[in-house]
Amino acid sequence: MNQELQLENYEKKIKRVIISEEEIRAAIKKAGKTIDAIYDGRPIVLVSILKGAFVFMSDICRAVSVPCEIAFMCAKSYYTGTQSSGVVRITMDLDRDIKDCHVVIVEDIIDTGRTLNDIIKVLKSRNPASLRVVTLLDKPSRRVVDLKADLSLFTIPDLFVIGYGLDCGEYYRNLPYIAEYGE
Ligand code: IMP
Ligand code: MG
Repeated sequence: MNQELQLENYEKKIKRVIISEEEIRAAIKKAGKTIDAIYDGRPIVLVSILKGAFVFMSDICRAVSVPCEIAFMCAKSYYTGTQSSGVVRITMDLDRDIKDCHVVIVEDIIDTGRTLNDIIKVLKSRNPASLRVVTLLDKPSRRVVDLKADLSLFTIPDLFVIGYGLDCGEYYRNLPYIAEYGE
């Protein structure tokens, strides 16, 4: 999508808020407690999938109390607009070994599940002590691979959403809430 087209009616394309800042904050507080209960004082490595999960990562890491390291990986599946290319590329790998570590993947949204499925395969092959997935959003109706998050904060219908890290053509990541995108 060219930039001029993308920026036309920029504000109007924020169709409606579907999850407010307050709802996100409350769900993250609860998720932090759930993570603390699962690991019970054991150290964890939170692995955020860039770029979409960067906002969620910054909040979820402050909601847990167990000793916690953070690490980042970059995977791309949506190259332009709202259409998935169906191809997943790991464009930036972790900067640390995760062997024998308790790893928690922090994801923004599970849509078809392809991205996460590939990432899970790669990370499992590195022999972590355990591997779990926490996702902010889940669109189960769109799934093409058999995959379920260990912890999912919100289940949403088949809508294209923006904000709180999620983009459309790289814009709208800075919205503090989750909104439906559209004309
Ligand atoms: P999946 O591989 O189809 O599960 O989708 C993976 C990635 O596509 C997510 O991590 C997001 O970055 C992106 N994505 C999927 N659905 C949406 C959406 O509704 N808005 C913005 N990005 C999305
Ligand atoms: Mg993502």
